[in-house]
Amino acid sequence: MIKSIILGAGKGTRMKSETPKVLHTIFDKALLGYVIEAVNATNLVDENYIIVGHQAEEVENYVKTNYENSKCILQNPQLGTGHAVSMALPFLKDFDDDVVILCGDTPLITAETLKEFIEYHKSGNSDITVMSAIFENPANYGRIIRNSDNTLNSIIEEKDATAEQKSVNEINAGIYCVNWGKIKTAFSELKTNNAQGEYYLTDIIKWGNENKLRVNAYTLKNNEEIFGINSKANLAEAYKLLNNRVINKHLTNGVTIIDPSTTWISPETEIGSDTVIYPSCYINGRNKIGSHCKIGPFAHLRGDVILEDYVKIGNFVEVKKTTIKSHTNACHLTYLGDSEIGTNVNIGAGTITANYNPLTKVKSKTIIKDNVKIGSNSVLVAPVTIEEGANVGAVGVITKNIPSWALAITRSPLKIVENWVSRALK
Ligand code: UD1
Ligand code: MG
Repeated sequence: MIKSIILGAGKGTRMKSETPKVLHTIFDKALLGYVIEAVNATNLVDENYIIVGHQAEEVENYVKTNYENSKCILQNPQLGTGHAVSMALPFLKDFDDDVVILCGDTPLITAETLKEFIEYHKSGNSDITVMSAIFENPANYGRIIRNSDNTLNSIIEEKDATAEQKSVNEINAGIYCVNWGKIKTAFSELKTNNAQGEYYLTDIIKWGNENKLRVNAYTLKNNEEIFGINSKANLAEAYKLLNNRVINKHLTNGVTIIDPSTTWISPETEIGSDTVIYPSCYINGRNKIGSHCKIGPFAHLRGDVILEDYVKIGNFVEVKKTTIKSHTNACHLTYLGDSEIGTNVNIGAGTITANYNPLTKVKSKTIIKDNVKIGSNSVLVAPVTIEEGANVGAVGVITKNIPSWALAITRSPLKIVENWVSRALK
């Protein structure tokens, strides 16, 4: 197994935020989390070293809580990408296999591409492989400079490039695979005699050539994968790109999505075929939606939602941490949280599971068994169980368990005052 080094010490000034750049989220997962998960999903890397600097503590806490195979290393001060990678030297003293190096702010990189990239490096017996990409507008990227025989010569940063070099449209994607044993010594030889006065990681290409190492480039097929986040505008764009990827996967798998442009589905949502997603739905977190379901328009699934087949979640319905068995409907204006709902249940319009006690801050469960009918505008005050087949009359405020096949009514009887209006108008 090889190792990875993920760079994330930079400040991210253009995000104009109190949150560290790599902890900004898409569907509630940090940008850095996407990168770590893509690396882990290659099944080729067993340990990740995350280089942290700005707001290091917050990033370190995030990594510690979420990724046990990942360790943060502090880089302070930040003297450039080459300096950043060298921070891992003491941790990889005796390691001499390959290391993949990437950035923590490119959440769209996929495990498939990384796997192909690492395998390309290994099968070519490379010592250094850099990922390149062809960009119509290469501005701001380091340019890949090749020799006349097409072999790699060096990478030149835009700020150091001549006009001729700037016209090259093959760029450095910022992802590398290196034989650590062979390039370890490069870091003590990097210089800062460049436009930014930094230790450039990119200089390892030239160094590799000078030291007779095998240096290669792998060209990325889909440029979207190295889309980097530097601003809130970039973040919004990446959100949309990731969402489009998820939507296309579901469309291919036979899910009907009426309006992809207003539908948001997190990558961790599974959906069965012939389910229809109506416009303006936001589906976040980890969910499993069966086949032949109808979701929306204007539905909000907040995660940990499991819907069996033929479930209907209609407009202005919010569902969180809830399991719903087949053929159950919650069609209008409803909140279902921390609930277990059986099959063939009808949840009337305006039903609320009151799952949270704001005084004790305790969340409790609502259990609704098979064939139950909940009348409109009811509040089910959890913890509460509605046993099989029971009916709750409209406007029920249910604070006790309801036995099977019973009727629960909590409203006061209807009173009709004859001719009240005509008298009042006199
Ligand atoms: C870098 C490459 C450039 C490439 C581009 C791809 C260098 C010198 N240039 O440029 O060729 O086209 O990425 O996106 O490497 N970082 C640290 N510590 C530091 C400096 C940077 O951890 O001291 C991290 C940043 O947080 C960021 C990454 O390294 O995640 C890249 O740094 P950045 O300054 O954005 O490099 P670029 O100028 O974009
Ligand atoms: Mg820079």
